[in-house]
Amino acid sequence: MAQLLITGGAGFIGSHTCLILLEAGYDLVVLDNFSNSSSESLRRVAELSKIGHEDRLKVFEGDIRSREDLDRVFFSARDGIHAVVHFAGLKAVGESLLFPLAYWDVNVGGSRTLLAAMRRHGCRTIVFSSSATLYGDPREVPITEKSKVQPINPYGRTKAAIEKMLSGYAKAEAGWRIAFLRYFNPVGAHQSGQIGESPSGIPNNLFPFVSQVAIGLRDHLQVFGGDWPTKDGTAIRDYIHVMDLAEGHRAALELLQHEEPQVLTFNLGSGQGYSVIEVIKAFEQESGRSVPYVIGARRKGDVACSVADPSYAAKCLGWRTKRSLNEMCRDSWLWQQSSPQGYLE
Ligand SMILES: NC(=O)c1ccc[n+]([C@@H]2O[C@H](COP(=O)([O-])OP(=O)(O)OC[C@H]3O[C@@H](n4cnc5c(N)ncnc54)[C@H](O)[C@@H]3O)[C@@H](O)[C@H]2O)c1
Repeated sequence: MAQLLITGGAGFIGSHTCLILLEAGYDLVVLDNFSNSSSESLRRVAELSKIGHEDRLKVFEGDIRSREDLDRVFFSARDGIHAVVHFAGLKAVGESLLFPLAYWDVNVGGSRTLLAAMRRHGCRTIVFSSSATLYGDPREVPITEKSKVQPINPYGRTKAAIEKMLSGYAKAEAGWRIAFLRYFNPVGAHQSGQIGESPSGIPNNLFPFVSQVAIGLRDHLQVFGGDWPTKDGTAIRDYIHVMDLAEGHRAALELLQHEEPQVLTFNLGSGQGYSVIEVIKAFEQESGRSVPYVIGARRKGDVACSVADPSYAAKCLGWRTKRSLNEMCRDSWLWQQSSPQGYLE
């Protein structure tokens, strides 16, 4: 079966996607520097997928910015790497405002080094983790793939730059198969509660924060802005269950491998927006716990509303989300209860 390189495969979305891809029969090689993850996630992925022998999931500790680390990984594959699923990178909007150069270095520099390694080793298929952040403050909602790319923070600008670099490269050299998957807001966890999002320090995202408040690790949630032009004044996002997102990667890989070389862009979201208050209520229902919150000032770099039009992905990939907001809350809560400190224990 085809062997895939998964960069950043130990992280939140990478680990869930590894599980789906192993179940689909692919053999995987993961390259991760564990700067924001633990190898424990992959140990649990191996356990959940019941892979018979460790050959099907090889793990290399290394950096996408290192030519040597990448060569080591490509040479390890007996029959070559058929495709890359590229998750590795830095992902926090607020941090990118404080340390923009680190974002250009890891995200853009790392992707450039990866692209060069793919060329050297004759691999021309890549699925890239892009982000709805590159739409900035969208003029119209729902957002289609044709909506303007106008990122408003360094993180979003690095994602836009990587898309440009890869699509520009595909024009210069024939044979590239590329999918940009623009994720909306990935949340939730595997239904076993064994793998999930394991943020280090104070979570940047709403779901891990809400979970930590519900379980008593934090006493309240700080809501960023109650004066947005939305139904209840709190910001609206399109949340997508991480297992639905993982299935989107499998669909994209299958399409790329069976079609002519081309560059494709897909919004991966549910098409349904929920406010922060609606998320809190759903989480309270599923956990049976109360989630106290305080409404504070807006956060720099945030927007009022971001919701995908996922119809192009539905048409081309035959993919759409299946899991509801309540399932996202239920699975996040299960993960939070089974691993209150993430993978740290
Ligand atoms: N989680 C989200 O809300 C979200 C939304 C849109 C897009 N994305 C993108 O999806 C991808 C995965 O996100 P995630 O939430 O799983 O993040 P994550 O931090 O959990 O996973 C990223 C992984 O990459 C690894 N990594 C970081 N720098 C590396 C380097 N230089 N070399 C090798 N490995 C490195 C980290 O250790 C981690 O395991 C990222 O590219 C992110 O920008 C995430």
